[in-house]
Amino acid sequence: MADLDQRLTAFDLPSGLDTPCVVVDLDRLDANIARMQAAMDAAGVALRPHTKTCKSVAVARRVLEAGAQGVTVATLGEAAVLRNSSIDDIFVAYPVLATGPKAARLRHLLDQGPLTVGVDSGEGVAALVAATDPRRRPTVLVEVDCGEGRTGVAPGEAGDIARAAQDAGLTVAGVFTHGGHSYAGPDAVAGAADDEVRALDTARAALTAAGVECPVRSAGSTPTALASARPPVTEQRPGTYLYGDRHQAHLGSVAPDQHALVVAATVVSTAQPGHVVLDAGAKALAKDKAAYVAGHGVVPALGGAHLTTVHDHHGQVALPDGTTRPPVGTQVAVIPNHVCPVVNLTDEVLVVRNGAVVDRWTVDTRGRM
Ligand SMILES: Cc1ncc(COP(=O)(O)O)c(C=O)c1O
Repeated sequence: MADLDQRLTAFDLPSGLDTPCVVVDLDRLDANIARMQAAMDAAGVALRPHTKTCKSVAVARRVLEAGAQGVTVATLGEAAVLRNSSIDDIFVAYPVLATGPKAARLRHLLDQGPLTVGVDSGEGVAALVAATDPRRRPTVLVEVDCGEGRTGVAPGEAGDIARAAQDAGLTVAGVFTHGGHSYAGPDAVAGAADDEVRALDTARAALTAAGVECPVRSAGSTPTALASARPPVTEQRPGTYLYGDRHQAHLGSVAPDQHALVVAATVVSTAQPGHVVLDAGAKALAKDKAAYVAGHGVVPALGGAHLTTVHDHHGQVALPDGTTRPPVGTQVAVIPNHVCPVVNLTDEVLVVRNGAVVDRWTVDTRGRM
């Protein structure tokens, strides 16, 4: 898919940046937020974006202002940061095991307001009940596996966990799944979306048979979000769509000109033949690499060139034939393979509009496990 890499476009960078740094284009971000919200509104499905991608209170507020029902997080630490910023409707889409110190953290969160968490085991149910006061229990969604094979019970078994949770005094709101097997490649996306819909339908029937109501059927992954926004799905939790990345472009979920985040880097060496070196390596770009892409990020300004090798602080870019060798000091935008770990590597992102810096956002939930 080399030709797709050549079609990826970045936005204009301000000049004279202190690189490497992470830069977000506000107009592209807002367009991504608006596009997903409009699609969910049209489908009659609630949107609850996963904030593990942006890790940012500012972005969480933007999605809520655009019409999202609430937000998703992966950890109690992320939930605490958002809760302290007056964001109330939070779902921890993770099988929270509230034992040991986590029990106290969960209690503290519940003292501040309601919280929904994931559960996929009897042990998880028992720990949630033991950890919390009957007057302030979390609401739960039972996680079901739709084919990713990571967490979640088989859809037909969701009724047993839901019944146990309800009998133990927890409020069961429904079921959730994550179509993570969509990341296997572009050919896997449509099937994974169907799997999510089918799994949630089977799980809903299992809850009904067990005498538990199931108003929430929550699906979630950026590649499958549009295709699985149909009955009986009531909610979607994509997160990576906010910024986009090269993997999403190859999976067909983000258009070549919709990338809202880049790593800005400077050419620091042209001393070796065959490549130039950027000051962005693995500590700025991370090392995630799906089988369907080559290298560790794309440089649109250099003809779609890839970073062939990333050392901690060096990124080697092999120039495609016919590309003019950029002189030392040239600043370029790199579209990273996977945006989530990139955000997790930096303390703040630079926010730009029309090539000018308009803000700086702290990566608020970084390190909040
Ligand atoms: C449980 C859960 N929900 C939602 C998401 C968001 O999916 P994506 O990163 O494809 O937007 C993830 C991502 O890992 C997840 O694990």
